[in-house]
Amino acid sequence: MIYDVLIVGGGLAGLRAAIAAEATGTKVAIVSKIHPLRSHSGAAQGGINAPLANHPDGKDDSPEKHAFDTVKGSDYLADQDTVEIMTSSAPAAIYELEHWGCPFNRFADGRIAQRPFGGAGFPRTCYGADKTGLYILHTLYEQVVKRNIPVIQEFFVTSLIANNQTCYGIVGLNLATGNIEALESKTVILATGGAGRIYGSTSNALTSTGLGMAIAYWAGAAIKDMEFIQFHPTSIIGKNILMTEGCRGEGGYLVNKDGDRFMKNYAPTKMELAPRDIVSRSIATEIEQGRGYENRYVYLDIRHLGAAKIKERLPGVRDICIDFLGVDPIDSPIPIQPAQHYTMGGIDTDMDGQTNIKGLYAAGECACVSVHGANRLGGNSLLETIIFGERSGRNASKYVSANVARQDERLVSNTIAAQALVIKNISQGNQGKENPYQIKNELNALMDKNVGIFRTEAELKLALDKVKELQQRFRRIKPSVSIARIYNYDILWRLELEANLDMAEITVAGALARKESRGSHSRRDFTTRDDANFLKHTLVYYTSDGPRLEYKPVTITKYQPQERKY
Ligand code: FUM
Repeated sequence: MIYDVLIVGGGLAGLRAAIAAEATGTKVAIVSKIHPLRSHSGAAQGGINAPLANHPDGKDDSPEKHAFDTVKGSDYLADQDTVEIMTSSAPAAIYELEHWGCPFNRFADGRIAQRPFGGAGFPRTCYGADKTGLYILHTLYEQVVKRNIPVIQEFFVTSLIANNQTCYGIVGLNLATGNIEALESKTVILATGGAGRIYGSTSNALTSTGLGMAIAYWAGAAIKDMEFIQFHPTSIIGKNILMTEGCRGEGGYLVNKDGDRFMKNYAPTKMELAPRDIVSRSIATEIEQGRGYENRYVYLDIRHLGAAKIKERLPGVRDICIDFLGVDPIDSPIPIQPAQHYTMGGIDTDMDGQTNIKGLYAAGECACVSVHGANRLGGNSLLETIIFGERSGRNASKYVSANVARQDERLVSNTIAAQALVIKNISQGNQGKENPYQIKNELNALMDKNVGIFRTEAELKLALDKVKELQQRFRRIKPSVSIARIYNYDILWRLELEANLDMAEITVAGALARKESRGSHSRRDFTTRDDANFLKHTLVYYTSDGPRLEYKPVTITKYQPQERKY
């Protein structure tokens, strides 16, 4: 079997890409390490942005205003042509989801409801209670089933089949059989999600390990802007489960231990609905300066919204608080702290999802199509998955029709053999003493401490040295207790740890080299944005001597960089 379009990842970007590719008549399949309905896309709560102008306070909204908010929110690092494509395509994409049955909340007149979200000039976030990602995931999966698109589940991709900067498919471990198998394809779309699990305090699922990005990186793809890590302002204390921005969109307050709505001191106009980088820094500053509770959290207070509204609009948030904190937010404020939430960087793609490897596309959080720049606005990630998932599926299909099928049997068998060796070495081949789980814990603690909301050269240098030490120790890990390959998650976690280490390394390398503060990248030693030297994207390439950094310009169309004020 040789596919035309093979999609790795069954989250929103992958499902939307598959539907688009199938519509062109190409032979498409989805391969995923988990069932699509368990994808991390299902954890997205608050909503998806589109300038529908349905809200009474949003009548003047337009794609252009959405584009401006996105570019300003990105601290001017987003590529403006790509942002314009996203915002102008948004309304039709929402109505398509609606027609496919997505149960968005509605206003009394029947139109799709919209709520305010951070950094937005108008209430433009469409939502399904606080389970929007899950609703869209089910909607798209239904379309995949309806179209009989094959989903190869519990298949763990470990490598591309590629040479001469051209991709011919993937190789991976079939978890059910334990076999290492090749799936040949004229194009591959990576839709594997973010790398949040390089951090310990993260809202991301255990599956968001960055392996998809690493697979592309190891094969020669450029990885872009990895230093820009989004910290969501509100995750529950200790567990870091998301408390959606929808809580503040519906009117929730952030309060310090003096009972003060401190956002007035940081973003007097937007208050709690400033962009996430600003709100996260404000919370971190309150805690650092002794105005947090127990030096580690502040309160998100939604009690004044009332029981009816909380039950209707934020039922998932309420359940999480009751289950994980023993607190009912109808009666008590929610103790929250910022947590890693989103990887703004990723595999460098153009606006069609094409990478610098022929036949290799990427979409969703694993990609960096540059619509988020240095700071993503809440509600734009779901939109990105739908718009650029569709574009990558459609454009990969075009590439298929323009290119003759090629097969190189030796390349396929050599890749299988190479991966068999990698898996053997990682699970039993080397007789070292290092515990891979200890390495993972040390990496997570390091990233939390040294590569967090505020950064300094000294901390970043220490982080880079430590990551390199962990990479060395990883080469001396002790054998796995079991040599079985069937459903051996120890092997998978070892493979993912290698990706974690390399993605952490390039995150730190990019952060160290960027001697300015922009969006989520906040340096205590370079406190201002430096457009003269750093209005540019970071590109990182894999070499056997470590990452090689390059830069490329940001595309500016209508909006010249200005100081951000909220
Ligand atoms: O806060 C949230 O509901 C998250 C949304 C997002 O990351 O876009």
